[in-house]
Amino acid sequence: MRAIVINEPGNVEVMKLVDRPMPKATEHQSVIRIHAFGVHRYEVLTRAGGSPSVKFPRVIGVEAVGEVAEAAADSKLTVGQKVMTMMGGFGREVDGSYQEYALVDDDHLYPVDYDGDWITLAEYPENFYTAIGAIKSLGLHAGQTLLVRGGTTAVGLAAVKLAKAMGLTVAATSRRETMLPEIAANGADSAVLDVDNQLDTEASYDGIIDMVGTVSMADSIAHLNQDGVVCVIGLLAGEWVAKEFSPFSLAGKFLTCFDSTEVKQDLVDEMFRLINDHHLEIPIAKVFKLDQIQAAHEYVMASRELGQVIVDND
Ligand SMILES: NC(=O)c1ccc[n+]([C@@H]2O[C@H](COP(=O)([O-])OP(=O)(O)OC[C@H]3O[C@@H](n4cnc5c(N)ncnc54)[C@H](OP(=O)(O)O)[C@@H]3O)[C@@H](O)[C@H]2O)c1
Repeated sequence: MRAIVINEPGNVEVMKLVDRPMPKATEHQSVIRIHAFGVHRYEVLTRAGGSPSVKFPRVIGVEAVGEVAEAAADSKLTVGQKVMTMMGGFGREVDGSYQEYALVDDDHLYPVDYDGDWITLAEYPENFYTAIGAIKSLGLHAGQTLLVRGGTTAVGLAAVKLAKAMGLTVAATSRRETMLPEIAANGADSAVLDVDNQLDTEASYDGIIDMVGTVSMADSIAHLNQDGVVCVIGLLAGEWVAKEFSPFSLAGKFLTCFDSTEVKQDLVDEMFRLINDHHLEIPIAKVFKLDQIQAAHEYVMASRELGQVIVDND
């Protein structure tokens, strides 16, 4: 089988296409045939050496969609079953998605109820799971208002789609004025400019998902209604620690965070019910083949197009 192996971190040329033996199922691990996967900016950082915990040689790639090719000895899965995988060290502690087959712990294989094509299915795992987890952590109900801060990110696009399907009134942000019509075209009720980490609006919201991070958190709190919740899920601005933060700014308001480390099958099922019932999709920016992975990494960093970059592995 073909795999993209990185022996040491570096520029795109360190990603080498090689032939490798097929993995074999074990007692608790199944082999999946990977049909497609999303390519993410944080994988580009890993390839470049920005993830100290990732040891090389490694096949990177943090998520995949495919089918069970050989089931673990004690598996509840069956050969041919449609699954997605993410987390559980996939593409970081163990070899990930940049290959044709992968050996995955059954605990990290999630059956999916979805009849569309593999390329479309590949836009969902990390993006939609993070988005639904963040929305649910806000405890909102239909009719309330949500702001998605980072409305042009793939996770942000997914959050807008899911939140609308849940009956929320949704605004979303970009730092680029030119993207505001695109945010509305993606289904948001309104689009807000984010200028130097300050929202260019007087409006306030019942919930805010903040992906810009510590640099915008205080401004997000200032734009919350009473009893509102800010959920921080990303640090796009690259600042890990909030420099100035007064806990008193939270009076009558709440701050939380969500990360998708713990994947729960019931939330995966709820996510696909919403996707199927409301035909939810986000744009696919571009599709590459496995042997074009170097171009895919260059595209992910250079592109200003909306949507998810996918590798079609068929
Ligand atoms: N918590 C979790 O479990 C989890 C899981 C997955 C992803 N995430 C996080 O979610 C975020 C989005 O991920 P993604 O893969 O969907 O992103 P993405 O699609 O690569 O996001 C690209 C967008 O990020 C915005 N951006 C870039 N630098 C920025 C900055 N300094 N300040 C504000 N916006 C900036 C730009 O929007 P504009 O130019 O239009 O403003 C750009 O269009 C990331 O922070 C990621 O780490 C979290």
